[in-house]
Amino acid sequence: MKTPIYIALSFLALAAVCAAEEKPAEQQDFKFDTYTEYRPSLNRIPSDDPGMECPNTRDRTLPMHGPWHTNPGFDSITISYVAAGPSLAGVEYRIRGTTNGFKRVWGTIYGAADYHSHVHSFHLKNLEPATEYEYRFLSALNSYELAKLWCGIFTGKELYSFKTLDPELKNYKVFLTADTHGSSRVWLEPSIERSNARDADLFVQLGDQIEDTMANDAENLIMGSFLDECCRLYASRGKAAIFVRGNHECQGIQAWKYGTYFPRPDGKGYFSFSQGPALFVVLDAPANHGGMPINEVIAGAYLAEQAAWLADLKKTEAWRKATFRIVMAHIPMTLGGGDRLAEIFREVLVDKSKDGRIHLYLAGHMHVQMRRDPGTAAVKVNNPFRKSFPRHLTDEWPFAEVIEDMGGGMTLEVSPEKLTLKAYDWRRHEPRIMDAFEVYPDGHVKDLVEVPVYTEPNPK
Ligand SMILES: [Fe+2]
Repeated sequence: MKTPIYIALSFLALAAVCAAEEKPAEQQDFKFDTYTEYRPSLNRIPSDDPGMECPNTRDRTLPMHGPWHTNPGFDSITISYVAAGPSLAGVEYRIRGTTNGFKRVWGTIYGAADYHSHVHSFHLKNLEPATEYEYRFLSALNSYELAKLWCGIFTGKELYSFKTLDPELKNYKVFLTADTHGSSRVWLEPSIERSNARDADLFVQLGDQIEDTMANDAENLIMGSFLDECCRLYASRGKAAIFVRGNHECQGIQAWKYGTYFPRPDGKGYFSFSQGPALFVVLDAPANHGGMPINEVIAGAYLAEQAAWLADLKKTEAWRKATFRIVMAHIPMTLGGGDRLAEIFREVLVDKSKDGRIHLYLAGHMHVQMRRDPGTAAVKVNNPFRKSFPRHLTDEWPFAEVIEDMGGGMTLEVSPEKLTLKAYDWRRHEPRIMDAFEVYPDGHVKDLVEVPVYTEPNPK
């Protein structure tokens, strides 16, 4: 090799190394200068502005559904969305208002780029508490689908946001609804508005959001029944939600897909989180609607696992420090449909001690707004049309239990001094309060409205 050529090649090689160091491969900007590029050389419609980055058919960064935010924490959150088709997906995020670059996370599977799905979730961690973040999605198609043609990385043009929980936030409002059964598009907005809950800090869906069963198109059912509406009304404002699984989300041939849309980092549907003076415990109560005895065995073991986990949770600092402990589940503990639950959780939840008690149990399932006060067997029901509630209650359960109306609108206001729960009959133009009461740290409740009390016999 002649010396001048050798020197020239050395400079080229050095230049290539420097370029690689300046810009990692994954960060390469790729300008798309054609509007349509179904396949190279086919359907190419060039932009008349050569410098312009065009919307391109291979871009999967724009959600078809979502994004939505779950698993809120002081330093973590889960972001999920549904794309137009399968691709490798990523998210890049930064504290809102900063300009020092985004942090990137890619979807991987066993250490490799994961191209297989159009439904994506990212469990972000090591975040700052009480901090607003902005983020956008990334996508890239598998080159094997493109005849090994490099198609580049797309960076989303839409920015979204979320906020981590604030450990210092001691006064806040939670909105809860239950058993909307496919009617969220018509019910959710008025129930939020007429319950004065548009400013709620957290939104809770207490289960049975879908219409009937998780049949052959679970994604359409989930999106059309409720999730699109949740995104429109509050996820789009950066608000997080708690989705509790109901019995209807447990039945149907595609019931197994539920976790695809509401994944947890640990793969378990039950969890707890603290916010100010309250510790929230979310139970996951599967139901056997398939008639298979093995389903019953597996569901029973899963509930027993949760009871053991709850017993361990009671030994933690988060439990001891909480002024109020609130359990949420779809199935009631005593007010209908929860016989198996009561059997399994009796030992851990029948606890009157200051450090062991829970203050409130919130559920749905019965489609009737009703309440049982701590240590009583009586039921409080303020609905003249629905008086179907269980008989033969016992007075052993030392916490207030509330069952939310079908498609109900409830607010829970948390403060260091008390919990205030209000249930609205929001279907009236002048919403009527169906129930309102306060819960104090020692567990006792104080009624804010008069509610008819029923003891046996059941007046049905
Ligand atoms: Fe239910």
